[in-house]
Formats: sequence, structure tokens, C-alpha cells
Amino acid sequence: MEVIILKNAEIVATTAAGLVSELLRVQADAVLGLATGSTQLALYRSLVEKHQGSALSFKQVSTFNLDEYLGVAADNPQSYRSYMNREFFDRIDIDKRNTFLPCCGEGENPRLVGPRYEQKIREAGGIDLQLMGIGHNGHIGFNEPSSSLSSRTRVKTLTKQTLKDNSRMFTKDEFQPKLAITMGIATIMDARRILLLATGESKAEAVQKTVEGPISAMCPASVLQMHERVTVLLDEDAAAGLSNRDYYDWTYLQNEALKDRFSDK
Ligand code: F6R
Repeated sequence: MEVIILKNAEIVATTAAGLVSELLRVQADAVLGLATGSTQLALYRSLVEKHQGSALSFKQVSTFNLDEYLGVAADNPQSYRSYMNREFFDRIDIDKRNTFLPCCGEGENPRLVGPRYEQKIREAGGIDLQLMGIGHNGHIGFNEPSSSLSSRTRVKTLTKQTLKDNSRMFTKDEFQPKLAITMGIATIMDARRILLLATGESKAEAVQKTVEGPISAMCPASVLQMHERVTVLLDEDAAAGLSNRDYYDWTYLQNEALKDRFSDK
């Protein structure tokens, strides 16, 4: 696991955007795994800026999001589909027909969505780079603590903590879903590369458990220790609980610039 600690959240976002554009430079038709949430907003902003200001194109890119609420129609502003369109897809040159979320259409059996999503990911050739955040409880996607580390895309019940964390996005009168369809942990682990972003002191404990704790279903993100190519990008606050910090900084200094990190296709 490569742990990179950067000065602030803005630099985390621009560094992540730099890594994504580096990948697209060598693999224009890459398959990206995407996430929603507050942490990703600065990343999308930075990618949009790169698209507008340089030749960064998403024309040939396909995307698969980690999760989608169940019981929220795609055109509802609270859906993750709406978030993705608003914050990213509508602002770049991607072909929206190549953007996928594990949505459950009205009247559809939600249990069929997972296997179909897995199939779609396989047909696309698998995910080249999965971008993600982390919950305060160590969740990735909506794989809440105690999720099977071998899980596949399926319906999950959100924890009370996740509902509380996400309640800031909903007004009092809005329906806040308690269920979601999420990529499974094994699905995430199939991605060829993973980039985890965490910022802010509220994430410090989850980050410490993820990077330095035992691998446990009680901190789903800790399974990333088993993945060959994970980069964890942190700001100072999110890194505050790490005991091996000196080594991460030392390793980072020894590495050459991030340039070309993703160019060994
Ligand atoms: C959302 C997702 C979640 C978030 C996590 C952190 O698609 O996959 O795992 O990444 O809940 O959310 P923020 O960034 O809002 O703290």
C-alpha cells in the first residue's frame, strides 16, 4: 500500500486528478470506477478544469460507480446518478451511454441488479482504476462494517452512522433511503488499481485502521492491504493517526515524481 500525505485537501484532489489524466494519456479508453460524496467533489472539479483547460478527454472512457441509493429514481436530484451528471458527466465530453451506476429501475427486482452490474463490468474488461473515499466507519462503497470481504454487488442496509453522516445532504422533508446497491468488496478488489482519497480529521481513525490495523470486516477498507496496487492520498488531518508516518514520507521522497506512475500499461 502506498501512502502519500499531502498538505491539504485541495492538493489531494489535484494530485488525484493528475494521476487520472496520466492514466488517460496512455489509455484513452480506460474504465474508471467512481464514487460520490463530499471528498470526491474537489477531484471532479479538478478533472473538469483539466478537461476545459487542456486536451484531457473522456470520450472513450467508461465509468462504473460504486453505489446508488435504492428507492430513489435516477432523475431525483438526490440520486447518485444526478450527482454524477451534475458534478462531472455534464461538464466533460464523456458519452453518458458509457456511464453506469447500479440503479434499480421501477418495478425491477433489486436482487437482479448486482449480477447484471457485475456482468457489465466484466464485459467492459474490468475496472482499470477505482477511485474512492472512505466512511467514518471504514466503509468503502456502501460495504458497511461486517460486510463479507468476498461480497459482490448487492443490496446493503446502511448503518445508522452512515445515515447520520449523509443526512446533511437531505432536507427534513426529503426521503432519505436506508438501502443502497453497492459494488461488493471482492468487486472492488478486482480493480487493477485503486486510489483512495481521505481528507479531514474526522477520517483519521478510519484511515489509521485501514492502513495500519488488522484486516477485518469491521473496517472494510482494511482489506485494501491485500490489493497489489493501492495508493492512499491523504491530507495532514486524515493522516493524523498514522504511527508509521515517517516511513510513508520517506518512501514518497524516494519515489520520483508521480508522473508516469500509471503509464506502465
Ligand atoms: C459514495 C461512497 C462512499 C463515500 C464515503 C465517504 O459513493 O462510495 O463510500 O466515499 O461515504 O463520503 P464523504 O466523502 O462524503 O465523506
